[in-house]
Amino acid sequence: MRLIKCKDYDEMSKTAAEMVAGQLLLKPASVLGLAAGSTPIGMYAKLVSMYEAGKVDFSEATAFNLDEYYPISRESDQSYYFYMERHLYSKVNLKSAHIPDGEADDAYSECENYDKMMETLGGIDLQILGIGGNGHIGFNEPGESLNAGTHITELTQSTIEANARFFESREQVPARAITMGIGSIMKARKILLLASGKNKREPLKKLLAGKITTASPVTILNLHPDVVIIADIEAIG
Ligand code: GLP
Repeated sequence: MRLIKCKDYDEMSKTAAEMVAGQLLLKPASVLGLAAGSTPIGMYAKLVSMYEAGKVDFSEATAFNLDEYYPISRESDQSYYFYMERHLYSKVNLKSAHIPDGEADDAYSECENYDKMMETLGGIDLQILGIGGNGHIGFNEPGESLNAGTHITELTQSTIEANARFFESREQVPARAITMGIGSIMKARKILLLASGKNKREPLKKLLAGKITTASPVTILNLHPDVVIIADIEAIG
């Protein structure tokens, strides 16, 4: 596990965008695993600028998103579908992009098909991750056990509270989500974890301490052979 310390959010975003661009240079047909949340917004903005300047090309690349609220309409400006369209998908030339369907009638089949699709396309080359304040990755919440594959999950109260800032009220935050499982994330060939701000100090500290526990799902990354953490000073503490 490698830790890159950045002075602030902007440097973290730039460093991450350059690593994604590097991945696409080395392997233009990469499969990217992408995250939503406030943390990667700066990285997506840099990637869009690099694309507009002709410095990065997504034309052979495919993207799979980590997660989506369930149920949620694609048109809702709080859906991760809307978020990805706004920050990246409508602005670059990705060959194809996939997000779990928050409107699926049969969410179980949706999860199964999502895993099959990722496998068919050769699995994820580079997975971008943020961290929840409670240590979640994707929407893999702390608990007694962790799921391997894409699944439907109940959000914890702390995640509902943390994410309420994006909604008009706490009551509007969906109580469930579809998320890639820990197995899908761990199968990625390389993982890039971004952390910015004081509220990521605790989960980052737990990850760096090296003790693996389902009570802090991010700690499982200690078992992955190729993880790069890009964190700003506030998150490192
Ligand atoms: C959200 C998402 C995660 C994200 C995390 C951190 O709930 N499901 O994929 O990484 O929480 O979000 P933020 O970057 O807004 O702090």
